[in-house]
Amino acid sequence: MDITDHQRLLIIDFGSQVTQLIARRLRELNVFCEIHPFQKVTDAFLDDFAPQAVILSGGPASVIDAESPRPPEKVFSLGVPVLGICYGQQVMMHMLGGQVLRGDGTAEFGRAYIASQADLSLLEGWFLTEREQVWMSHGDHVAKLAPGFEVYATSPGAPFAVTADTDRHFYAVQFHPEVHHTPMGSKLYENFVRLAGFTGDWTMDAYREQAVEAIRAQVGEAKVICALSGGVDSSVAAALIHEAIGDQLTCVFVDHGLLRQNEAEEVVTMFRDHMNLQVIHAQEQDRFLNELDGVSDPETKRKIIGRLFIDVFQHYADEIEGAAYLAQGTLYPDVIESVSFSGGPSVTIKSHHNVGGLPEKMGLKLVEPLRELFKDEVRALGTELGLPPSFIGRHPFPGPGLAIRCPGEITREKLEILRKADAVYIDQIRRHGLYDEIWQAFVAILPVRTVGVMGDGRTYDFACALRAVTSVDGMTADYYPFSHDFLGETATRIINEVPGINRVTYDITSKPPGTIEWE
Ligand code: XMP
Repeated sequence: MDITDHQRLLIIDFGSQVTQLIARRLRELNVFCEIHPFQKVTDAFLDDFAPQAVILSGGPASVIDAESPRPPEKVFSLGVPVLGICYGQQVMMHMLGGQVLRGDGTAEFGRAYIASQADLSLLEGWFLTEREQVWMSHGDHVAKLAPGFEVYATSPGAPFAVTADTDRHFYAVQFHPEVHHTPMGSKLYENFVRLAGFTGDWTMDAYREQAVEAIRAQVGEAKVICALSGGVDSSVAAALIHEAIGDQLTCVFVDHGLLRQNEAEEVVTMFRDHMNLQVIHAQEQDRFLNELDGVSDPETKRKIIGRLFIDVFQHYADEIEGAAYLAQGTLYPDVIESVSFSGGPSVTIKSHHNVGGLPEKMGLKLVEPLRELFKDEVRALGTELGLPPSFIGRHPFPGPGLAIRCPGEITREKLEILRKADAVYIDQIRRHGLYDEIWQAFVAILPVRTVGVMGDGRTYDFACALRAVTSVDGMTADYYPFSHDFLGETATRIINEVPGINRVTYDITSKPPGTIEWE
């Protein structure tokens, strides 16, 4: 489903590690763009996509190798501005009649400084001082410019750091403006899209209107079901679909007994009572907890929960007559096709099924109204749709819930202790104004009892671990540097307020080598 009717910018991906960041920078400028691997960009694709500007990304290949990737020649005859970055610059020079060479000690990796040679609208507002920091990562370098191009900035290792053919609006830079270490990088993109005539029509307000129309057009009179997890993605997807088709949507919220304190009530009350969605609250705590009884292996726990989730969801969904679609909160990073140069199929498509295998099994088609959005855009859309900020900014919570924060056997008693301790910990974090600085924070209850002394008596209770990490995507993470005062106060509160815990530790493992969750 293509739900955008905006000015469009095409990013042709040659496999750089940071191509997604180009899209991020452009979306921040309210410009709609899509990343497509070079293998897929044919003349017909270009006609169909009709970009208003094209960016050629960086990549690991060398244009000197005959087999290295190229964009179609047609990119240069579309009559639209083209920006080449790193490999993109080199491929432009190579194809337009310049020369790229390897060696001569001109490789640059990391921080470099460029100096202006002449004024260029692409660099407007750039050179506040004589030199400007950029991030380089290149082995090859441009040795001869293509006809029509001039040099506008140089660095010690890149005499052609910024080049342009201003008549044709072709721009080519050796460095990476999309990364954080090129402080003025966003300004370069801002100048580029202004030159290309983008008006900044990609806003969440405009997106919401179009998405609503597109959902109506896709599903018609059919019914849609959605597994509401209480997470941001499925919540925003449900709210958007509800706006489009009202009571044709039914959400199923599966309570597996592994949720946090008050979580089920909060989610169900908000969606059912405040937002008027049809929500089935599947109370399946006993089923899940009975099957998990005596299981301590983490993978077995996950498998049991996954299997039961599908069974339970299917059972409730079967009761909704005429259901033809399943809604999923799939995001853009999950659908970007990644470039691979060797071995296997040339293009790997990462697809994301939140309710694994269900659509096929139940013969359902998918509605994925967030497929074109990044996470922060989903949050902005959620705000547009009236979801409360406290909900939009929630930390991620894993599908298997507290099961993977309770190493060893899961018992109702341990879950109850864990819920209470977690509530105190999160309350502490909120009281100290730290919630939004932290990617994820939770308590894990450890499978060990320790001896303590409270009042004049001996205790023999559970130990718990506090976890709080900073991260951008959950792939890597570092522990949050709480003050000792905060940790001391929190430990005291947990021990005083949560019967069953007499020892509190703080987990300071980063990821890697640890994982964020305990299992
Ligand atoms: P780890 O523990 O692998 O977690 O460092 C990275 C992120 O993924 C979440 N997570 C899960 N989410 N099902 C989920 O839906 C799972 O089985 C699962 N395991 C981990 C975790 O909370 C963190 O945000």
